[in-house]
Amino acid sequence: MSLSEAKKKVGGLAGVIAGSSAICTCGLGNGLNYYGYSIQDLAKMAEFEEVAYLLQFGELPKENELKEYKEKICANRNLSENLKAVLRAIPKNVHPMNLMQSAVAALGALEAEKEDFSDQDEKIIRLLGILPSVLCYWHHYSNFGKEIDFNSDEKTIAGYFLEKLQLSKPKEDFIKAMHCSLILYAEHEFNASTFTARVCASTRSDIFSAVAAAIGALRGPLHGGANEAAMHLIESFSSVEEAIKGVNKKLENKELLMGFGHRVYGVGGDPRNELIKEWSKKLGGDTLLYKVSEAIENLMKEKRPSLPPNADFYSASAYHFMGIKTDYFTPIFIMSRVSGWCAHIKEQRANNKIIRPSSEYTGPEPRNFVNIKER
Ligand code: CMC
Repeated sequence: MSLSEAKKKVGGLAGVIAGSSAICTCGLGNGLNYYGYSIQDLAKMAEFEEVAYLLQFGELPKENELKEYKEKICANRNLSENLKAVLRAIPKNVHPMNLMQSAVAALGALEAEKEDFSDQDEKIIRLLGILPSVLCYWHHYSNFGKEIDFNSDEKTIAGYFLEKLQLSKPKEDFIKAMHCSLILYAEHEFNASTFTARVCASTRSDIFSAVAAAIGALRGPLHGGANEAAMHLIESFSSVEEAIKGVNKKLENKELLMGFGHRVYGVGGDPRNELIKEWSKKLGGDTLLYKVSEAIENLMKEKRPSLPPNADFYSASAYHFMGIKTDYFTPIFIMSRVSGWCAHIKEQRANNKIIRPSSEYTGPEPRNFVNIKER
């Protein structure tokens, strides 16, 4: 095989080891582990804050450490008047991913990280605390002209977010499902948005710039935006029969089925799928929407066994059953993945070398410059 044939084979850097990391294993034995803990154990036995702590400091917290960590996150929920003014200026028809990205960029200006990054851990906690408030404040202001406060007895990000979004006490099951979803989305090795964050951090840029860049990468439907796109797919069918017909047609037309396939996991499947599917079934198993989802999954299993559902497919219906608007699905992904991004930013900074790969040149041979009047 020639060098250029070999390079064509790694389109999208598939299979390329682009750096080393101690944070996560993805796809080894088809598993997913954060600092050695399996995603199954974390999703079933931990709350999201324990996982965020693990990602930030490399070890699970002791009881008192978790208590203190959660208190710090809660103390970081408030928005400054300047940030509120920025959010009020963003109209309601804007995609909420742009809102979230703008808010993080604005934080970089209003609450800048120190140049020596000595406050990076405080900034990570600030991001964990403030991101749910950003989305909920903007939601109520842009839709109803109402300014919410940030007081709450809910001590977790999952409970606080649901309470402030819906302005009512969330059901216990919704909070548990949200914890599970936040844990599943928290970290995933060198995915596109995390790699973006590391590239940005490798230039010695600030943490808010790196997170804002990562949000831009997460937004696309091939990555985080897939949960929103999967919802649109599922909702477009009003019966199981229609779904089977519609998905068959899409496969014939070689269209992408959103929420299926994964660069790393392949046929073995995404280990996060069964964990979030369990919640989706628990919250809405008797609905048409769930039945349509399962029919699509079964058809894909039969027709494209190499493309099992990924974490986004049943996250979509789980969020829907919690009463969350579809275009808030990917912003929830941010509230979670910010923990993984920041773990990688810290790791990159601890042993930094600017990430600057090379490309294989495919352009014209060297040629003479032609004066503009003679072209
Ligand atoms: N539906 C239909 N066909 C597919 C799909 C799909 N979801 N995914 C891959 N294929 C086909 C693809 O068209 C290609 O066919 P061919 O060989 O005939 O050209 C073949 O399968 C190999 O796919 P690929 O494009 O080389 O795979 P990739 O590793 O480059 O892409 C992916 C991975 C996740 C971007 C892709 O599977 C996809 O676009 N899936 C739908 C979007 C999605 O659900 N993204 C979420 C990813 S996981 C969680 C996250 O990051 O948020």
